This record gives sequence, structure tokens and C-alpha cells, in this order.
Amino acid sequence: MGLLGRDIFVLLFLVIVFAFTRTGEAQSSSFLINCGTNSSITVSGRKWVGDLAPNNNLTLSSSGIAASTATLSDDSTYGPLYKTARVFTNGFNYTFQGIKGNYFVRLHFSPFSFDNYNVNESSFGVVANGLKLLSEFSVHGEISDKNAYLQSSGSNSSSSLIKEYILAINLDLLVIEFIPAKGSFGYINAIEIVPVVDTLFAGPVSKVGGNGANQNISWQGIETMYRLNVGGSEINPSQDSDLWRAWEVDSSYMITANAGFEIKNSSNITYSSVNDSSVAPLLVYESARTMSNTEVLEKRFNMSWKFGVDPDFDYLIRLHFCELVYDKENQRIFRIYINNRTAADNFNVFVRAGGKNKGYHQDFFDVVSPKVDTLWIQLGPDTAAGAAGTDALLSGLEIFKLSRNGNLAYVEKYGRGVSSPRRRSSKTQLLWVGVGAGIASVAILATLLFCFCNRWRQKSSETKNNPAGWRPLFLNGSIVNSTANAKGAAGSQNPYGAVASTRVGKRFMLAEVRAATNNFDESLVIGLGGFGKVYKGEIDDGTLVAIKRANPQSQQGLAEFETEIEMLSKLRHRHLVSLIGFCEEQNEMILVYEYMANGTLRSHLFGSDLPPLTWKLRVEACIGAARGLHYLHTGAERGIIHRDVKTTNILLDENFVAKMSDFGLSKTGPALDHTHVSTAVKGSFGYLDPEYFRRQQLTEKSDVYSFGVVLFEVVCARAVINPTLPKDQINLAEWAMKWQRQRSLETILDPRLEGSYCPESLKKFGEIAEKCLADEGKSRPTLGEVLWHLEYVLQLHEAWMRTNAGDNSFTSSQAFGALVEGEAEEGEGPPSLDEETGCSRKSTTRGSHESTEDGAEMHGH
Ligand SMILES: *[C@@H]1O[C@H](CO)[C@@H](O)[C@H](O)[C@H]1NC(C)=O
Ligand SMILES: *[C@@H]1O[C@H](CO)[C@@H](O)[C@H](O)[C@H]1NC(C)=O
Ligand SMILES: *[C@@H]1O[C@H](CO)[C@@H](O)[C@H](O)[C@H]1NC(C)=O
Ligand SMILES: *[C@@H]1O[C@H](CO)[C@@H](O)[C@H](O)[C@H]1NC(C)=O
Ligand SMILES: *[C@@H]1O[C@H](CO)[C@@H](O)[C@H](O)[C@H]1NC(C)=O
Ligand SMILES: *[C@@H]1O[C@H](CO)[C@@H](O)[C@H](O)[C@H]1NC(C)=O
Ligand SMILES: *[C@@H]1O[C@H](CO)[C@@H](O)[C@H](O)[C@H]1NC(C)=O
Ligand SMILES: *[C@@H]1O[C@H](CO)[C@@H](O)[C@H](O)[C@H]1NC(C)=O
Ligand SMILES: *[C@@H]1O[C@H](CO)[C@@H](O)[C@H](O)[C@H]1NC(C)=O
Ligand SMILES: *[C@@H]1O[C@H](CO)[C@@H](O)[C@H](O)[C@H]1NC(C)=O
Ligand SMILES: *[C@@H]1O[C@H](CO)[C@@H](O)[C@H](O)[C@H]1NC(C)=O
Repeated sequence: MGLLGRDIFVLLFLVIVFAFTRTGEAQSSSFLINCGTNSSITVSGRKWVGDLAPNNNLTLSSSGIAASTATLSDDSTYGPLYKTARVFTNGFNYTFQGIKGNYFVRLHFSPFSFDNYNVNESSFGVVANGLKLLSEFSVHGEISDKNAYLQSSGSNSSSSLIKEYILAINLDLLVIEFIPAKGSFGYINAIEIVPVVDTLFAGPVSKVGGNGANQNISWQGIETMYRLNVGGSEINPSQDSDLWRAWEVDSSYMITANAGFEIKNSSNITYSSVNDSSVAPLLVYESARTMSNTEVLEKRFNMSWKFGVDPDFDYLIRLHFCELVYDKENQRIFRIYINNRTAADNFNVFVRAGGKNKGYHQDFFDVVSPKVDTLWIQLGPDTAAGAAGTDALLSGLEIFKLSRNGNLAYVEKYGRGVSSPRRRSSKTQLLWVGVGAGIASVAILATLLFCFCNRWRQKSSETKNNPAGWRPLFLNGSIVNSTANAKGAAGSQNPYGAVASTRVGKRFMLAEVRAATNNFDESLVIGLGGFGKVYKGEIDDGTLVAIKRANPQSQQGLAEFETEIEMLSKLRHRHLVSLIGFCEEQNEMILVYEYMANGTLRSHLFGSDLPPLTWKLRVEACIGAARGLHYLHTGAERGIIHRDVKTTNILLDENFVAKMSDFGLSKTGPALDHTHVSTAVKGSFGYLDPEYFRRQQLTEKSDVYSFGVVLFEVVCARAVINPTLPKDQINLAEWAMKWQRQRSLETILDPRLEGSYCPESLKKFGEIAEKCLADEGKSRPTLGEVLWHLEYVLQLHEAWMRTNAGDNSFTSSQAFGALVEGEAEEGEGPPSLDEETGCSRKSTTRGSHESTEDGAEMHGH
């Protein structure tokens, strides 16, 4: 462990006293029981013996009630098994003989209706050899709870439930006792008992935030809370050797799915230790999630997963790792946080596992206090490790709850599944109250209501901050749709038609649009966006237009499309691309914009054959874009956040006047924001505000951040993310900030600007960009301030140009600039912030500034 360096300071390695028995040579076997029948059935290659079948080494204390259904459960793996169940209204024991050692005990529950029993109302406890596994348990409650959580992140729901325990059985006998709650009943569909190898929990365990004293932990039983194949697909029980574990996908538990990038490599993966072959199937190690997305390089965030857990228990958190990319050590070093405390730092998978492609796991121990019902697992940068410390990796994750004083049961407050803060909104709260009241008025008759009221009282007194409470029990699936609707757009609540009808602008006939684009001639395509193609067209009066045609297949595009219409119909500004009209006919959704003859700002910086822009035009373009954004932030009724500021969304007209375009992701500011459910971080990688990543909170300052990146891009004329460069240069924001902090931005300046810019103005320009990239939004300037300073930069440069006019060394080396620099303006005086006219210059040599309604090129994303 000497290798692990600084970990030792943070972690305390615990001595774990296993209650587990050593099974020695005894050959233990599985018990697979199909409850409620005397017949056996083979499911996914295993034979499940009926609980009434003869010679099954199983004794039933009484016969209970055998129930069966004709409807097949939609559980794909175990469906046939769930056609029967044993129902009990009194205490009921299953006694297994000839069983000793450590076992997985899985209880299968799949609700179906039978006779007079409403399965949704069953409530019962389960005790195994004296260890309480469940109490006041409701299968229905737990399933709804879990589904609400899963569906909120777009995953499939499930109709059945498997509770998994790991038990040490010393008696040669296992008694599983089912105890229905008073007046209620219980049921069980299947019982699965599979032997566990002794080495499964043999390794060292690190205590999170160890208090310096050695500590022995012992437990009688363990409950599996979560088991995830991180970055990969679901692993079915049949794919997991002899242990038949199921591994879920992890994405539904991630706070920000964009923060992690999935990688896969299935070649030549082995276990780092020969004893580990049962710890996880190799499939788990073949995929992982990293932060090294070539697009997401704002590595000032964590990859975070959040889990609902039972308060007041100890947890064993097992993290699985396998380095799939680097074949040298010290390439990927990170920190691990569990419930916001450092669990490990300087974590180097390559070193710990002993190389590349080696499956390795590390166990952590943490105590969850009585008031906490979530467990956060976060992996993030380790700044002490330099460039290597910016990337993290995780392949798999398991969370086990440890028994305490002979108890694993927690009286569930169903509804926990949706208690995560992002699902709270005043709207759903109201709904909940409404539904609750409705139910209450019918309440008097039903016995179930008695139970409900009890819990409701408990709930409201205990966790006032969890209005989601019982909601899923009554609303079932209906609440979960809100996330799907919330995809990106404030306007998405409005049906498309409603938005369109309130809009200004001409309504085009589809025939007109077809005529304008030569029936959507591919040769007229000038841009390609997330939601469709952009064509150059010419409408009746000869005006050139850009025509954006939504791809009807794209749901997401639809929302963004609606936002764009809504935004643009409210907004008119010289530095915003204007909407001329629209067409909605035969399911087509088409927007017609002014044509921007000079295309994107980016195309004039790099990646094309176009002549480079002079420094003056670059600064002017920035000023134009800043004016447009400043207007968005302050000019409209409510502040509007563009959300996707980048050089491809800054368009230049024939006079190089810059205009902001693409409002597909825009949304109105904070006024609307806190009632608005937003799960996914939107925007373009390389420009994304790291604070937005961290806090999921969108403000105008996120645009300021992105604009800062644009400023650096304008100086350096390179892509904001260029994965082909050395690691420290990949992300422009980081790279440029490094030089800017040393006050030597000119080192990485676009070489084509050499000698043709005012050094003082570049210095100032760099300072503005640096301020925009401040880590915290509140330290960043407003766009109004940015604009003011940019005006000043322009003045510095213009003054410098006048003094240098005629200077040979300048003009000769700058022939390329002559083309577009000829329009020097005479204007002087202090810059104004007149965002309505968008023009502070005292005079211009061309009236064309004011008549740019024609001409534009639309580029997509
Ligand atoms: C199983 O039970 C059914 C009726 O419940 C009975 O007819 C049948 O004979 C039983 N089969 C065996 C193998 O005991
Ligand atoms: C019951 O136990 C005996 C002896 O341990 C074993 O031979 C037999 O296969 C078991 N039966 C079943 C159905 O597991
Ligand atoms: C079930 O087993 C437990 C413990 O062995 C015992 O106390 C209880 O009375 C049994 N219940 C029934 C219904 O047989
Ligand atoms: C139980 O709940 C499920 C889903 O919440 C519902 O579809 C089903 O109809 C309910 N069953 C009964 C018998 O009330
Ligand atoms: C949901 O289920 C469908 C059909 O079984 C499947 O094709 C799809 O991949 C599943 N989606 C997820 C997120 O698991
Ligand atoms: C932990 O267990 C070991 C061996 O069982 C024992 O020697 C040691 O004293 C225990 N430590 C504590 C703090 O209980
Ligand atoms: C997977 O790993 C093997 C062995 O390390 C390597 O040769 C191969 O290039 C990798 N494949 C991918 C797609 O990265
Ligand atoms: C596979 O792994 C083994 C052991 O780590 C190594 O000796 C062998 O060269 C590897 N093969 C490939 C193709 O990488
Ligand atoms: C594997 O387990 C055995 C027995 O538990 C132990 O003696 C051996 O040291 C272990 N090997 C490794 C590499 O941990
Ligand atoms: C950890 O931090 C998150 C967000 O910062 C917070 O919501 C959560 O309650 C914290 N968890 C604990 C256990 O403090
Ligand atoms: C990652 O999470 C931990 C714990 O919540 C927090 O202390 C740390 O600041 C986070 N790191 C980043 C870069 O957000």
C-alpha cells in the first residue's frame, strides 16, 4: 500500500470482522423456489422447483394460499416464474434444510391481482434466521418509487422487484419468516438462494473520514441497494457467472449525464487479483465512464451519482475500476467523494490495479446519519496531481447496506424515489396537495387509508422539505412526464401552434418555400443543425433568405424550434438575426431568416480558406455579438439567457456586422427558472460554464463565460476543443487562461495578426476574457461591462492605427487585411451602451449598417 501515498492520510483501513462463515470444502448448492405451486419450471436455463414439489428440502409451516395468474409479467427474464405466488394472511415460514455458509438470498415479488386481495395494499415483514430483512414492506410502494426515479431520467420502468441479501448461515438451516402487517397480507413469487464465495468481501475497506481510531465492523447480513455497470449496458443475471446478479445501467442515477463519457474496450481484460473472479463479471470492466470526453473538457466539475438510501445505516460502497485507455501510470489521477467528504485522493487506477485492462475494486465504508436519505458518489479532479489530475474513471458501483443490531429493515417512506431536488416544483406540489385532499375526502371507508394517514402524518412531520412525499402512489406515471417536456425550452409547454399564432412575421405557403429553395435543393444547403438543414433561398421580391427546415423526426428539435420562434418573435435588434417569417404546413416547420452573407464568425477565424479577419474586425464582431447578448440579458421584459454562445452562432452580414443567432436553447432568466425542471445541461462543449455544471443553475453569467471563450477563440483562431493537441492545450479556455494569467497571451496569438494589432488593446482584451472566465459567476462582469471595455479596446486599437498609418512595417506585412480593413471609422468619444440602436459609433462610412435586413447565412450547430 506504500504506493498509495497520500491516501493514507485520508483513509483508515479497517479490520473487518466477518460474521461470514468459512464454508471450507462443503459443496453448497443453490435453492431455486417457484412459490405457490407444486410444479417446477425452467427459466433462463435454471430449474425452479415448486414450493410444494416433493423432496425439495423445503418445509412450509402452513400452506398459505397458492395464487396464480394467467397474465404474464412483462419482466423479460423471470416472467414465467411470476405467474404464481404464495399469499399469506398469517405468519408463514419457509424452512430450508441442508444450508450452511454464505448465500445470496433473493426474494422475488411481482404484483398481480387475485381474488379478494388488492396486491397494492399488501404490507408485511420478513425475518431470516432472526435477522429482520423487511418490515411494513409494500412491494407496490417500492416499485412505484423506483419507477418514478427511473422514469424521471428516461429509463424503462419495471413491474417486478427483487430484494437481494447476503446472509451468513450458521445453523444448517434457514428459516425465512413472512409476517403480514395487522389486517393485511403478504406474498412472494420466488425465492432464490445462491452460494457466495468467501472472498467476495475479503479485501481492505477504507472508512470515509476515518477518525483515526481503528475500528472493527461486523455484520450479520447485507442488503444490496444498488448494483450498476457504469458506462455500459445492463447485465442480466445469466451473464454474471454463477452468482446471477443483475447490473443496472448507471445513467439514471447521474446528476449530469453529460459530465461523464462512456468508453468501452472488451479486449484482453483480466482481474487484477486471482481471487477477484467472483467480484464482478469482466463485462463490468469492459465499459467505464470518464471525464475525458474530447468535448467536455471543463474538468472543473465532478461526475456525480445520487442514490436514495435508508437513513441511519452503515454502507459498504464498492467501486470497480479498470483503466482502458492509458498504458502508462500517472495519466489519470482523481479524487473520490462519498457524501461530500473525500473518500480517496490521488487515486490512480493504473497503479492500484497493476496496469491497463485490469479489473480492480475498492471498498469504502460510510455511515449515513439519521437525517440523511441520499448517498452521493462523486469523482472529480485532483488538482494536486497537475495535468493528470483532471480525469476520472469508474467502471462499476455497488452499494450495500449493513445490518445493525440484527436489523436490516427500514420502514419505508414511499415516495423517496422522486425526492431529489430537481423534481420539486411548486406546480407538482400543488398537484400533490390536490390529489391528497381528494383522496382524504373518500378516506373514511377504506382500511388502506388508515395506513396512509398514519404514514402521511409521519411523513409531513418528519420531512417537510420533501413535498414529493407520497405523490407517486396516487399520480402513478403521470408526474414523470415533466422531464421529457422540459428538455430544453421554456416554450415547450406551449403547443407549437399557440406559439406560432402569437408571432409576428409573414406566414409563408409551403409552395413559396419550395419555390424559394428550388424544392429544397441540396446544393443550396448552407448549414446543418441539430434539428435540420438550412438552405439559402430567394423569396418573391428577390430578397435572399436563410431557410431553416426542421426535421420532423426530431422531438428535441421541435422544442428548440418552438423556443426559437417564441424568442425571435419577441425580439428585434440590430445584433440579433431577424426572423422574416415561418411556414407550418403539412407537418413542416420552417423558419425564414435574414440572410447573413458572410457566414459564421468561426469560418473567418480558422478551418476555412477565407482570408483572416483583421484585429479591428474581430473586435468589432465581438462588440456586435456583445450588444446582441446585452440586449437579450437586459433589454427584454425578462432577462433571456442565450445558452449557446459560440462562434458558429455569431453570424456576419455582408458588412461584417455581427449578429447572434440560434435561440433554440435560449430561455428566459431566473424569474422562470426555479419552477422549471431542468435535468440536462445544454449548450456546446468547450464553451460551457463550469459553474452551471456544478450547480445546475443557469444565469446570465453562463453566457458571459461562453462569451469569454469566444474572445479567446478570436485571439487564438483555433477550435475551443482540439483533441489532437497535447493534453494541456486541448481545451482552449484552460490553455488561454494559463497564458493570460502570465500576462503573455500574445504567445498564443493567431500568428496572422502579428504586427497588425495594438499590443495595448490585446492586453486589455485578454483581461476582459479572463474576467469572463472567472470560476464563479458572481465574479464575472455583466455583458454591459464587457461591452464597455470592448469599446475601449477598439478605441485603443483605432488610435494606434492612426499613429501607425503609413508605417511600412505594418502595411507591408498585412496585405491580407487590406481587403476588409478599408472602412476605418472616424468616430471618437466615450463609448455608449445604447443597446437599443446597438450603435455607439458616432459616424459610419456606410449607411448599410442600418439596412442589413437582407443577406445572411445560417449555420447550424
Ligand atoms: C399438483 O397440484 C395439482 C392440484 O393442485 C394436482 O392435481 C397435481 O396432482 C399436483 N401434482 C403433483 C406432482 O403433486
Ligand atoms: C435435497 O438435499 C439432498 C441432500 O443434501 C440433495 O441430494 C438433493 O438434491 C436436494 N434436493 C433438491 C431439490 O435440492
Ligand atoms: C416461524 O419460525 C420462527 C422462528 O423459527 C418461529 O418463532 C415461528 O413461530 C414460526 N412461525 C410459524 C407460523 O410457524
Ligand atoms: C395497483 O397499482 C398499479 C399501478 O400503480 C395499477 O396499475 C393497478 O391497477 C393497481 N391494482 C389494483 C388492484 O388496484
Ligand atoms: C426500454 O425497453 C425497450 C423495449 O424493451 C428497449 O428497446 C429500450 O432499449 C429500453 N430502454 C432503456 C433505456 O432501457
Ligand atoms: C478488532 O478485531 C481484532 C481481531 O478480531 C481484535 O484483535 C481487535 O482488538 C479488534 N479491535 C477493536 C478496536 O475492537
Ligand atoms: C482495446 O485495447 C486493446 C489492448 O489494450 C488495444 O489494442 C485496442 O486498440 C483497444 N481498442 C480500442 C477501440 O481502444
Ligand atoms: C493480454 O494480456 C496479457 C497479460 O496482461 C499480455 O501478456 C498480452 O500481451 C495481452 N495481449 C494483448 C493483445 O494485448
Ligand atoms: C487469494 O486468497 C487466498 C485464500 O483466501 C489467499 O491466501 C491469497 O493470498 C489470495 N491471493 C491474493 C492475490 O490476494
Ligand atoms: C452533498 O452535497 C449536495 C449538493 O451540494 C447536497 O444536496 C447534499 O445534501 C449533500 N449531502 C450530504 C450528505 O451532506
Ligand atoms: C466535487 O464534489 C466535492 C464533494 O461534494 C466538492 O467538495 C468538490 O468541490 C467538487 N469538485 C468540483 C470540481 O466541483
